Amino acid sequence: MSRKIIVANWKMNPQTQKDAEKILVGYGKQLTANSYKLKANVIICPPFVHLSFISKQLTANSHKLTAKLGAQDVFWENPSTALGTNEGAYTGEISPSMLNDIGVKYIIIGHSERRRYLGETDEMINKKVLAALKSGFNIILCVGEHHRENINEIPKVVEEQVSAALKGAQKPHIKKIIIAYEPVWAIGTGISDTPEDAMMAAVLIRKTAINVLGSAAKNLQVLYGGSVNAQNAGKFILHDGIDGVLVGGVSLDPKEFVGILRV
Ligand code: PGA
Repeated sequence: MSRKIIVANWKMNPQTQKDAEKILVGYGKQLTANSYKLKANVIICPPFVHLSFISKQLTANSHKLTAKLGAQDVFWENPSTALGTNEGAYTGEISPSMLNDIGVKYIIIGHSERRRYLGETDEMINKKVLAALKSGFNIILCVGEHHRENINEIPKVVEEQVSAALKGAQKPHIKKIIIAYEPVWAIGTGISDTPEDAMMAAVLIRKTAINVLGSAAKNLQVLYGGSVNAQNAGKFILHDGIDGVLVGGVSLDPKEFVGILRV
């Protein structure tokens, strides 16, 4: 069985670099206190402004935490790296080359909070997916339905979002694609999905990916995200068809987060 993946999405937290360091120190302390050997691949996704700092900390292994670095978003244009051009006339955006330069390996794309508050469309998400894959990143694409009143909404939304986002991706990209099934109603609400329904969504996601990328996508990595905590994480992580979890709020609490890593 391949190693499970645990993603910490810090979202727009914390507000200072000092506190970002405190979280890392906390992770390290919790791991050493329990002399725990990591069995999962951990990916930490801080806000852009903390990436460079966290990158240095992880490289120096200052906190005894082996983890990869992830960004929470990327822009789809990738200007030439030649100095003196103004190909990057996209105020406020961050290019794949910039992320690459500071050691980012993974990029979250299409998180529901960006779809909702920033108006990200499937078309924009597709452009970001293709730009990130072209630049050699691993992507963590987020998909999920808004409401659960209607169980039929899952296949429709999941199929639409997955096929739109992966349009134009190629077979060699499959190993670089992780899809996080994140039902929007479960994000930040304290109400997680059931492992059975998450599994059903994972099956659907792989089926849709096979339609776009061919049969090699049958082992595509699929995570669950939405109110994951140390108590419920095991139900998802230990499930055969679910490759890990994406953790939001709780990843800011070292004790809880390391509790998830220990599952
Ligand atoms: P949550 O967020 O764990 O706070 O529900 C998950 C996410 O980042 O989507």
